[in-house]
Amino acid sequence: MAHIPREMQDLPRSGIRALMDLAWAQPGPVIRLEVGQPDRIPPEHIRQAMADSVMAGETGYTPNAGIPELREACAAKLRQVNGIDVEPSQVLISAGSMQGLSVSILGLTTAGDEILVPDPGWPNYAMAARIARATPVAYPLRSESGYLPDPETIEPLITDRTRILLVNSPSNPLGTVVDQDRLAALCELAERHDLWLLSDECYDQIVFEGEVAPSPAPIAPDRVLSVHSFSKTYAMTGLRVAYVSGPLAVIETLTKMQEALIACVNGPAQKAALAALEGPQDFVAEMRQTYQRRRDRAVAAAEELGLPHHRPDGAFYLWLPLGDRIGDPMEFCRRLVVEHGVAVAPGSTFGAGGAGAVRVSLAAAEEDIVAGLERLAAALSG
Ligand SMILES: Cc1ncc(COP(=O)(O)O)c(C=O)c1O
Repeated sequence: MAHIPREMQDLPRSGIRALMDLAWAQPGPVIRLEVGQPDRIPPEHIRQAMADSVMAGETGYTPNAGIPELREACAAKLRQVNGIDVEPSQVLISAGSMQGLSVSILGLTTAGDEILVPDPGWPNYAMAARIARATPVAYPLRSESGYLPDPETIEPLITDRTRILLVNSPSNPLGTVVDQDRLAALCELAERHDLWLLSDECYDQIVFEGEVAPSPAPIAPDRVLSVHSFSKTYAMTGLRVAYVSGPLAVIETLTKMQEALIACVNGPAQKAALAALEGPQDFVAEMRQTYQRRRDRAVAAAEELGLPHHRPDGAFYLWLPLGDRIGDPMEFCRRLVVEHGVAVAPGSTFGAGGAGAVRVSLAAAEEDIVAGLERLAAALSG
């Protein structure tokens, strides 16, 4: 066989996916708390817009940067909801935020550059860095600092190869929300070392205080690239629509790159995204309240069961730093599925800082979340 580069063959497989496969393979029912996917479908007007677009025959290519009306609607949403002042020309529609993050990393690094990624953090950042032949450098999010990015801890990790500081707020897996002052300090750090700040705001509207998480872009508009998604806010994960916004020169570069990466995002899915922004927003508010109720119930259950936990302020995950008693995290999570009928994500899949922890998804019915936590507590004491 011809050569397959070692670094691509060695890309680590997501521990969450491994758990999903195991849960599917079980003969009996398993409580599914491992995956980060809303347990709802998009409101009807969104699905209808996509169906109408297909039926109208809008099945051709669209512009590399996305359809103009969606870029306009995204710019308006960024201004009104996130306080980010951009023109439609500064918005690129991507195939989910994963693809938006990947094209950004590819566009802003050359081989051998370094990208600072959170640990614990979403494992796909490191994968995307490796695909770009860049090196992911983990910066720790420590419980002593409330699992928030600390500029003083990050600064010593910066070298002359560092190009990007990646910040994710609200965080997957921790549910932390970074406040304005800390964002300003991170922007200042990026400024001082001439880095791009790549801000993953996939869960921007899933917060439990106020209606939106603060964004760094208004603080340093020339330095920040923001990535927002329709996936979680409107339960549209499979439709694959998100948007990257930032300085015009960057967006123009990324737009050219899209031609050779995906050409364009699925046109009818873009129409669904447009309907999501232009239609009623009650679904967003309703889901925010639903996740908050689940968060409160899950935190109360964890307290009752004596499970160490970090109370999330956003996103839809509960982080349980259980410590040494779980032993090998992947093995513990396997045992939870096979012997106790509950699937959670092993903390180790989110980086070295996740050893001894598990992540419980709150994108499930309250009774399932509570039953899952009870089974987890039983497994720990058994
Ligand atoms: C932190 C974070 N960023 C980005 C994504 C990707 O979302 P999508 O590509 O569906 O927009 C996810 C999905 O789980 C996530 O948790």
